[in-house]
Amino acid sequence: MSFLSWHDRYLIGHAEVDAQHRKLFELVNHFDDVVQMDMPDELGRILDDILICSSDHFRFEEALMEELRYPGLFEHRRQHQELVEQLQQMVVRMKAGGHLSTRSFIRFLVDWLANHILREDMMIRPYLKS
Ligand SMILES: [Fe+2]
Ligand SMILES: [Fe+2]
Repeated sequence: MSFLSWHDRYLIGHAEVDAQHRKLFELVNHFDDVVQMDMPDELGRILDDILICSSDHFRFEEALMEELRYPGLFEHRRQHQELVEQLQQMVVRMKAGGHLSTRSFIRFLVDWLANHILREDMMIRPYLKS
């Protein structure tokens, strides 16, 4: 079951970036399924996938922004770094069976995906046309 639904309003208009965002949505949904079904073996794997896909995606997006001479790249890169650091810390804590609940981790992911895409990634849209 998908609890985070993809919607066309998340499309920024670049096929590869949009496909990567969609993939991240799928991973978050898969993570939610894994939590619901209580599959501890699968948990570590999906956490690694989320971390790897996010880092790859950020690298791709930053390279694209550089290519497009997007003026907000510096600030955008800073936000990506912050997200990766938060994500890494959460993954480490979750793998260690720490206090972080899967619910707060999911809330963080959903908030990041929805808000970062809609507010920040969307800002490169006008630069794609030129
Ligand atoms: Fe971004
Ligand atoms: Fe993005």
